[in-house]
Amino acid sequence: MKKLFFTVLLLFLHTCITFGQEVKTPENKGVPNVGPAEGRLLFMQNCAMCHRADKDLVGPRLAGVAKRRSDAWLYKVIVNEPALRASGDKTAIALHEKWHKIAHPIYQSLKKKELDALLGYVKSL
Ligand code: HEC
Repeated sequence: MKKLFFTVLLLFLHTCITFGQEVKTPENKGVPNVGPAEGRLLFMQNCAMCHRADKDLVGPRLAGVAKRRSDAWLYKVIVNEPALRASGDKTAIALHEKWHKIAHPIYQSLKKKELDALLGYVKSL
């Protein structure tokens, strides 16, 4: 009986520790729990390796980006940033220069619904 008690206790502690570590994973850091949940998930899957809300990473921090940019512009950057630059967009060109000319990934395969959720999330940062 005592053995069973300790096994259960150990399992409980293990769960606590595992859960505690999960909260600290880099995917969650700087990816605040705001805006549409689907958008946050898509952001973690596609963007968090380069972007955080409050910290520059491979790309610029995105907190307050909706105050600097229009919705239409944000859409274009997310869907196809190289095409936006090729169209002569001065903001995109300047940003690209500043950020060491790192090619921005293209997200044309995302569905409109997914892009809406993603944009909703980015705008809530
Ligand atoms: C490989 C790294 C990388 C990934 C992945 C990435 N980005 Fe970027 N992002 C950048 C860089 C670098 C810039 C700076 C402009 C440039 O060079 O293209 C940028 C710029 C931006 C900007 C403009 C920021 C501003 O200050 O105007 C937005 C918005 C943005 N990214 C959103 C996203 C979203 C949303 C995703 C995921 C769907 C994403 N990015 C994925 C690297 C990345």
